[in-house]
Amino acid sequence: MDTKVGIGLIGSQFVSSIHAEALKSVPDARIVAVMSPTKEHVEDFAKKHAIPNCFTRLEDMLAMDEIDMVVIGAPNHLHCDITLKAAGAKKHVVVEKPLCLNLDEADLMISACKRANVMLMYAEELCFTPKYVRLKSLLDEGALGKPVLFKQSEKHDGPHADHFWDVERSGGGVTMDMGCHAIQFFRWLNNRNPIRSVYAQMATSVHQQRTRGDDNAIIILEFENGVTAVAEESWTKLGGMDDRAEIHGSEGVAYADVLQGNSIQTYSKKGVGYAVEKAGSTVGWSYTIYEEVWNYGFPQEFEHFVNCVKNNTQPLVTGEDGKAVLETIFAAYASAGTGKKVMLPFLTDADKPFKLWLK
Ligand SMILES: NC(=O)c1ccc[n+]([C@@H]2O[C@H](COP(=O)([O-])OP(=O)(O)OC[C@H]3O[C@@H](n4cnc5c(N)ncnc54)[C@H](O)[C@@H]3O)[C@@H](O)[C@H]2O)c1
Repeated sequence: MDTKVGIGLIGSQFVSSIHAEALKSVPDARIVAVMSPTKEHVEDFAKKHAIPNCFTRLEDMLAMDEIDMVVIGAPNHLHCDITLKAAGAKKHVVVEKPLCLNLDEADLMISACKRANVMLMYAEELCFTPKYVRLKSLLDEGALGKPVLFKQSEKHDGPHADHFWDVERSGGGVTMDMGCHAIQFFRWLNNRNPIRSVYAQMATSVHQQRTRGDDNAIIILEFENGVTAVAEESWTKLGGMDDRAEIHGSEGVAYADVLQGNSIQTYSKKGVGYAVEKAGSTVGWSYTIYEEVWNYGFPQEFEHFVNCVKNNTQPLVTGEDGKAVLETIFAAYASAGTGKKVMLPFLTDADKPFKLWLK
């Protein structure tokens, strides 16, 4: 492909704003259009990001020849249907996490993209987060010896939009929403070594009025190569987003904190306009992040996906990775539901992960 990769964004709110920002710094990308059913919002979004075309109907955007690749930033329950339509229109697909709601949908998405000869790229930015990329390089160069234990946690006080809290649309609570990050992060650190078993504990600790989903979870994975990985996920942690990881090896240990590790320690009597994602009150002490989108690796992620489309190369994170993460999520909900360790491979025809927990 000689020219820039033409992009169509799907969605015009939270994560799509990050996609638009990130893609602006990718030299080979050109955002051609944005689509979202809310007319006023999609028009404002197009104006704000200087995107030349906006649509409220997916079919109209997919009809544009200038679009090579779409980026799905719509709620989880729409990922499969949108991917099938995009593949049908011969567009490469970047889909936000989690891949979709169940394993049948995952298979449909993977096979539709294969049949159409387009790439299905799974957007897991932690595999591109600069601090985590450096952390993995310490492991890869042998500086930490043989890996023994991985830890990763993401915590904030709960999502901004209703669809996350509605388990029928999201598929599950914090394990589905943020556990998916940790699971793919561990698989990436461990070079896709197979996961042998999953044990999980989940609770709806604080937000019982808002959701039937889990708002706190601890997930323990055992890999075939003997590594244990522990994920802690929370939708009840106040004071802004937390994202940190540890690698414990036979000859060393490394700790990485994405958001507080290189932020500005701030004390303000009035509060800060914007400190960090889901900061809540910033009166008194808070931590102010800078270049948040870059620190999270979104421009790096999109540069990689755009280059894959332009040069027809294999993406670092694919639909198959998204499916493996989803299988692990189903096993985690099954474990939390039974109180027992669950062995992988885990086959299930459940249509949504949370159903294996709230039986
Ligand atoms: N990688 C990350 O860190 C990250 C962060 C936030 C969200 N996400 C994922 O991105 C997705 C969207 O989350 P969000 O926070 O942007 O939600 P949001 O509610 O802020 O935005 C959702 C967007 O989808 C649009 N939409 C609704 N129905 C649609 C349809 N039928 N067709 C096309 N668009 C439609 C809405 O109009 C809205 O613009 C979710 O799957 C979420 O898990 C990922």
